[in-house]
Amino acid sequence: MSITPTIYKTPSERYLLVLVVVIPGAALYNWSDEEGNNHWFFSVQRMKIAIAGTGYVGLSNAVLLAQHNTVVALDIMPDKVAMINQRQSPIADDTIEEYLATKKLDLIATTNADVAYQDVDFVIVATPTNYDPETQHFDTSTVQAVIADVRAQNPRATIIIKSTVPVGFTEEMRKTFKTRKIIFSPEFLREGKALHDNLYPSRIIVGSDSKPAHRFAELLQQAAIKRDIDVLFVDSTEAEAIKLFANTYLAMRVAYFNELDTYAEIHGLSTKQIVHGVSLDPRIGDYYNNPSFGYGGYCLPKDTKQLQANFHDIPHNVISAIVEANTTRMKHIADMIQMLKPKVVGIYRLTMKMDSDNFRQSSIQGVISFLREYGVKVVIYEPALTVANFEGMAVYKSLDEFKEQADVVVANRITEEITDITHKIYSRDLFSRD
Ligand SMILES: NC(=O)c1ccc[n+]([C@@H]2O[C@H](COP(=O)([O-])OP(=O)(O)OC[C@H]3O[C@@H](n4cnc5c(N)ncnc54)[C@H](O)[C@@H]3O)[C@@H](O)[C@H]2O)c1
Repeated sequence: MSITPTIYKTPSERYLLVLVVVIPGAALYNWSDEEGNNHWFFSVQRMKIAIAGTGYVGLSNAVLLAQHNTVVALDIMPDKVAMINQRQSPIADDTIEEYLATKKLDLIATTNADVAYQDVDFVIVATPTNYDPETQHFDTSTVQAVIADVRAQNPRATIIIKSTVPVGFTEEMRKTFKTRKIIFSPEFLREGKALHDNLYPSRIIVGSDSKPAHRFAELLQQAAIKRDIDVLFVDSTEAEAIKLFANTYLAMRVAYFNELDTYAEIHGLSTKQIVHGVSLDPRIGDYYNNPSFGYGGYCLPKDTKQLQANFHDIPHNVISAIVEANTTRMKHIADMIQMLKPKVVGIYRLTMKMDSDNFRQSSIQGVISFLREYGVKVVIYEPALTVANFEGMAVYKSLDEFKEQADVVVANRITEEITDITHKIYSRDLFSRD
């Protein structure tokens, strides 16, 4: 809240002290009664919001919205719930940690769905949608379970799906549950910068033009630090397509620069020079062009495969090529490592990005699979692992011992702590950025 004293001079030459009070989220409302009298009232509209799933998406949205609303975060994992209630972040994210520790947040976490969904205006769904290779589709069972629970317990609530879903899923749910109160709103955050990306969103997209859809967009805008955010209200199926096409474009860009690098590596050319020359075209741009072992992480591998599945009866080439290019790239990396004839390959970090705290679907794991198929001995250095053995490979606690053991050290990204062994590093990290 801010209070600004202002002095006005009235037409009768009198001075008037006016206090301008600005309360975030407050609004001045006007209504006319049956006799035509105007009534003004001032209201701070706090919403009651439940969020199912306290991972990267759920927790960042919970913290974001708890600045101005009452938020109940629900998870099936009691440890996560306990940590959030102690104002500790279960995931590595500087801004979430800072906000939990220092900001006034109206936030509680629970494992009890009955408590969470009671009396809430909105339920945000942020549960996992893993890709199932058997069905070649996302497994949306957690999202469906949340929708069923909410519809049974609090049919008044509007459900906002933030989990990434197949194109057409929300419309299907609206038919199944006979309600329009299910809206898809894609999430664009990056892991490790989840809350930052919601405080400064690239855009807000809501898959409906209804009143609750506008209200939800207002809540996101109110909580953000960035002003003048592009807000789009589109059809729910279009919103789902936006999410999958955006992630598939990012995957394509990674795959493109990786394939450029494969070409340069095989022909003994400088990838750095080629990428620099290519990226000087402003339509291409000098960003998101650092070669890697492949795109990875929780989202890009599964979202590209889901979009490919959505294309099954539609003529296409590019979408499938993006998926295939990633496997080809990982195999190429393994082939190049094998050509060095190593006795022991040391994998430096299983993570994708420099500051990541997880290694879900990291591309280096694809490279490891190929190396092991070739019979190469692989050992690992990964401080995020507490076990001594990971899928049959020795995990070193001591970085020095690890460096001694391996004659080739494979690193998707090179950091300070391995610059003393550059002579035995195999990496395609050319620009020291993600
Ligand atoms: N991670 C990202 O960068 C990102 C970005 C955009 C969209 N998404 C999408 O958002 C969704 C969630 O991703 P995430 O990375 O936050 O996942 P996550 O795995 O980090 O978190 C999911 C959480 O949901 C909980 N959960 C599982 N089933 C539940 C249930 N029935 N009720 C309540 N909680 C339940 C899990 O315990 C976990 O804490 C996915 O669909 C993902 O594709 C993720």
